[in-house]
Amino acid sequence: MDQTQGDYFIIKAKENGVHVIGLTRGHDTRFHHTEKLDKGEVMIAQFTEHTSAVKVRGKALIMTKFGNIETEQ
Ligand code: TRP
Repeated sequence: MDQTQGDYFIIKAKENGVHVIGLTRGHDTRFHHTEKLDKGEVMIAQFTEHTSAVKVRGKALIMTKFGNIETEQ
């Protein structure tokens, strides 16, 4: 897979200590990276050969090509 072609998404932290957790692609689904964002910090990332899913923990705004969604806590 061309790693430059994955969809981008944006996470904006609305509180300190938001975790953006990347989950591995393939048979094994496990955490491979956790990025901690503080309030107002923004992470711009892609789905890649290594990352097929992302879990967001904490209060954040998530923007994707499907639209925007906020976590509720
Ligand atoms: N090394 C990871 C990868 O190439 C970096 C990464 C990309 C990532 N997208 C992510 C880490 C989303 C956490 C969440 O797949």
